[in-house]
Amino acid sequence: MILIVDDDRAVRSSIGLVLRRAGYDTESAATPDEALEVMRRQHPHLIIMDMNFSRITTGEEGLHLLRQSRILLPDVPVILLTAWGSIQLAVKGMKAGAFDFMTKPWNNHVLLQQVATALSLGTNNKESEETHTGFDRKGIIGSSGTLRTVLDMAERVAPTDAPVLILGENGTGKELIAQAIHRNSRRASGPLVTVNVGGVPGPLFESEMFGYAKGAFTGAVSDRRGRFEEADKGTIFLDEIGDLEQPSQVKLLRVLQQHTFERLGENLTRKADLRVICATNADLPALVAAGKWREDLYYRINLVTLRLPPLRERREDIAPLAHHFLREAALRDGRPVPEISAEALRLLERLPYPGNIRELRNIVESAYILGESERIEASAFSVVADRADTPISGATLADMERQAIIDALARYGGNLSKAALVLGITRQALYRRMEKFGIVP
Ligand SMILES: Nc1ncnc2c1ncn2[C@@H]1O[C@H](COP(=O)(O)OP(=O)(O)OP(=O)(O)O)[C@@H](O)[C@H]1O
Ligand SMILES: [Mg+2]
Repeated sequence: MILIVDDDRAVRSSIGLVLRRAGYDTESAATPDEALEVMRRQHPHLIIMDMNFSRITTGEEGLHLLRQSRILLPDVPVILLTAWGSIQLAVKGMKAGAFDFMTKPWNNHVLLQQVATALSLGTNNKESEETHTGFDRKGIIGSSGTLRTVLDMAERVAPTDAPVLILGENGTGKELIAQAIHRNSRRASGPLVTVNVGGVPGPLFESEMFGYAKGAFTGAVSDRRGRFEEADKGTIFLDEIGDLEQPSQVKLLRVLQQHTFERLGENLTRKADLRVICATNADLPALVAAGKWREDLYYRINLVTLRLPPLRERREDIAPLAHHFLREAALRDGRPVPEISAEALRLLERLPYPGNIRELRNIVESAYILGESERIEASAFSVVADRADTPISGATLADMERQAIIDALARYGGNLSKAALVLGITRQALYRRMEKFGIVP
């Protein structure tokens, strides 16, 4: 199957027509988000991709999509479509791993030739037949489809040096995933340095992150390494990145662009040989859309986004997690591992978990500490029992979904692209849901 990505419907349909007449299967996508969805779900054999998107942003979007495709589907060739006169963009794209490019308007014969070449060379070119070494997911419990999708992506991205952005509510396991990526990377023998950047006030950002030389400022009584230096040959995990203040955003961007930094009060330029993983529970795309967060930095830190679903959206993980936490607690004390009664499990499966897995862990551990028998009954959870089903009482899930869509559309004055972006779904998916719920833009 050949994936055609272009925001111009006429381009999509005419290329599609030419290719289908020549016997190829095609899929098309109008936005980078839609394209990524097709790449994840259907694994195309070739991608023909426009470079000049100009929907929400300008310029970088096409290159960004290309880079993402090189991580998700490194063996699948990409042919770039560029507007006449933007050869420079095509050159950048070739450097970023595109197989070939075409300028618009294109010639159908040339197009078919390029497609045939890309398909034959692109597939023979598989140097290393995917050596599936396996991903060490130690301590990450759960087999829900949504968690598996995240782990699949983590496995693919771990061996690369690509920056990863991990999004998810409090307690969904963002740090755990960051650790797993580091552990499965080429940098595993180097350090993993965690910085809660939300907790670093703006004026201290440079001294904390870059370090300083003795005498650089009052109180700098000796040389000190910064966090970037500590992470040399390893990974730096920037937690709560959504809280990073604007001036600090600029400073971080510079490091990511130039891969260098200097200690405060020192002229020596040092190389930043590190991999960056960021995490936040904030809605970063929304912050970007609202102009509170730099878009260029957003693209830098987010070659791949991993979205950890809240626990209430993967309730099948609750039972295995509860057993896991009980087992851990019991092993710690050298006590036999207690069982959980079926009724108690059913209760646990119905709680809302605003604090996600961390909350589940606390609930299970308190029941374990209070209980004395080898079996935990539902009564052990009586303190939290009245919370069961709270999110659903009064409103159905569909009601909440409908409301979220209405809110997002209202917030962006009916702009579907922006609303889809903050809802974390594609424009197509948003459109389908609007139809389903009878929402008129
Ligand atoms: N899939 C999982 N399997 C086992 N334990 C998990 C899993 N996910 C999270 N945990 C546990 O839940 C707790 C919270 O996880 P973690 O600190 O990684 O979440 P977080 O998303 O970084 O939270 P916050 O936003 O509050 O920083 C930790 O004790 C972690 O070990
Ligand atoms: Mg965390």
